[in-house]
Amino acid sequence: MKKEFVLKKPCTHIAFIMDGNGRWAKKRLLPRHLGHKEGCLRIVEIARACQDLGLKVMTLYAFSTENWNRPQDEIDHLFNYLDDFFLKNIDEFMERGIKIKVMGDVSRLPNHSQIVLNESIERTKNNSRFVFNICLNYGGRQDIVQACKKIVSLVKENKMKEEDINEETFKSQLYSEELPDVDLMIRTSGEVRISNYCLYQLSYAEMIFTKTPWPDFTKAKLIECLEEYQTRDRRFGSIK
Ligand code: IPE
Ligand code: IPE
Ligand code: MG
Repeated sequence: MKKEFVLKKPCTHIAFIMDGNGRWAKKRLLPRHLGHKEGCLRIVEIARACQDLGLKVMTLYAFSTENWNRPQDEIDHLFNYLDDFFLKNIDEFMERGIKIKVMGDVSRLPNHSQIVLNESIERTKNNSRFVFNICLNYGGRQDIVQACKKIVSLVKENKMKEEDINEETFKSQLYSEELPDVDLMIRTSGEVRISNYCLYQLSYAEMIFTKTPWPDFTKAKLIECLEEYQTRDRRFGSIK
């Protein structure tokens, strides 16, 4: 029997760019939205796996600020699948002590999705075993700009001194708030780019770009990535 994988290198926060849903569907002569449907099933499996492997935070890129440029029909399907995802899995999230967090400007999301998300966040707010952090209408640049605006307001209202602005206080105004930096970022489907994802939070993340499209990304593939991560020498600018 294959030995269960044990994570030996510290890895608290894992982030995913779930890419390749559309191409996965196209290859099977299916409409693109069925790729997103299948992709949502992988989210459940990968979230369980991340928690079971001892990670503490999982961040997922589900909808970027640029994804509004897609056909409305695809966007509608995507948000409907996300609603289904939360409604179907919320009980398991409660059982597993998983807290749901959202990054991005949710005010532009369809009303029904905002309702489902708010209920999910509210219901899981006291959970503390694992954070499931989903990026919706999120962009790394937008995140940095909104953090700057918050800091300007705080300074104007005398709630923060200009001399207290530093990397840590700036970081806490990002959508990620008190979450630790990303340790490992995995992008599926073969594209080797960041696509405006977590620009500040990824500063020292290890990155893995796998050819596997998201709907085929299983726990076994995740373990392969973690095995690769464990071989990396994270120096953070030092020399040892
Ligand atoms: C990722 O898959 C999901 C979202 C961006 C919402 P894509 O829909 O980008 O799939 P490809 O890249 O076109 O195959
Ligand atoms: C990045 O994927 C966004 C998400 C996965 C939500 P895209 O498919 O939108 O990125 P590009 O267009 O290939 O850079
Ligand atoms: Mg894509």
